Amino acid sequence: MATADVTDTGAPVVTGMRCSVCGAAVGIGEPLSFTCPASTPSDRRHVLRFESRTVPFRPTDDANPFLAYRRWLAVDAFGAALGLDDAERARIIADLDARVARVAGTGFVRTPMRRADELSAVLGFSDRGGVWLKDETHNVAGSHKARHLFTELVHLVMAERAGVAPWKDVSSRPPLAIASCGNAAIAASTLAAAVDWPIAVHVPVAADEPVLAMLDTLRADVRVCERRAADPAGDPCVLRFREAVVSGAIPFGVQGTENAWCLDGGRTIGWEMTDQIAAEGRMLDAVFIQVGGGAFASCVGASFATSGLHPRLHAVQAEGCAPLARAWERALATGGAANAGPRWAECMWPWQSPRSLADGILDDETYDWIGVLDAMASTGGSPVVAREENIVEALRLVRDHTDIDPSPTGTAGLAGLVEARSSVGDDECVAVVVSGVRR
Ligand SMILES: Cc1ncc(COP(=O)(O)O)c(C=O)c1O
Ligand SMILES: [Zn+2]
Repeated sequence: MATADVTDTGAPVVTGMRCSVCGAAVGIGEPLSFTCPASTPSDRRHVLRFESRTVPFRPTDDANPFLAYRRWLAVDAFGAALGLDDAERARIIADLDARVARVAGTGFVRTPMRRADELSAVLGFSDRGGVWLKDETHNVAGSHKARHLFTELVHLVMAERAGVAPWKDVSSRPPLAIASCGNAAIAASTLAAAVDWPIAVHVPVAADEPVLAMLDTLRADVRVCERRAADPAGDPCVLRFREAVVSGAIPFGVQGTENAWCLDGGRTIGWEMTDQIAAEGRMLDAVFIQVGGGAFASCVGASFATSGLHPRLHAVQAEGCAPLARAWERALATGGAANAGPRWAECMWPWQSPRSLADGILDDETYDWIGVLDAMASTGGSPVVAREENIVEALRLVRDHTDIDPSPTGTAGLAGLVEARSSVGDDECVAVVVSGVRR
């Protein structure tokens, strides 16, 4: 028997990328592989996902999740394919993290996840079960968003280091670009400032003053995007962002359809949850994740597939903006919730007039819906649409019964648990991510 076939060499786990819509394959060593080759600026309905080998889930003991779970990250496989050796790949991550820490006041460290005892009691859970809150409010830039963006940055820096980036040197780097007026913009501008990389941030006319002030401090090039008479339907910030990308800017946002590398780092949240609940000798029965563009829930769902933990994934939207729940119903009616990518036009289209207090999840379209549906289908989960009163109640519950200081978007996952409480057993262990701090 050839032992080489069964020996785990410790090599990176991700083997390639494949479009969930048209099936196109992209090599893992392809530099700047942000979108499917069939995706165009006027039709972004394609999304690349990572394909992995199955190996035992044994992270290394490091406070920084990008080092602890490096072997499972697609950027590690990317760097290896470019010829960067193991030590060099680890050094790039550690160096970037140190730079981030200088700007953000903290580098990336595993965020705490604890059973919220008072909240669990208020919600009627027994001592056998309860609600575990993962607190992302002290993560880099005050939300989980920087995790998605960090792997985009690592990808760019590894491409530079290996000499395969299409620009000559650091001084001729094209600008980064993002369309966002909230946590993603702050996180992207923080990472950009950490490496002195120019960034254009496309914001709506109604952007919040505190966010604009913060972007200014981070030296972002803020572009206020009014709707122009000739604009087609859709968010003018996204239109201007795509124009910037067509002119050579690098997509640096948190939508997998614009840059698939955001779907890599977001998985560290779920991997941490896997380890943290195991350390308590428990198993998670269900996880409730709030959904805007869907990258967050898609990543948490994908993380469970590689770590071997399979709690039910419940994707939570507010009643005032629920295109994902509609897509779930449409997918079930047209052939099933799994592998629905080729049925994009039948399942996912923009929601009219989104509204909720949870303003970070008002994306009219759930760009990363395919991964979320796949994860819900494979774990026996389902979407939850939270009534607005429960969006308000979830915020109050966390503010009154924990020491976390969240935003309404940050507690929207809990709103889903409150909404679906009668179908969750009192003995079940349920996790929720408090994803963003009060601004
Ligand atoms: C605090 C917070 N939580 C959750 C989300 C939703 O993440 P996604 O857009 O990836 O679904 C956002 C998005 O802006 C956010 O800011
Ligand atoms: Zn495609």
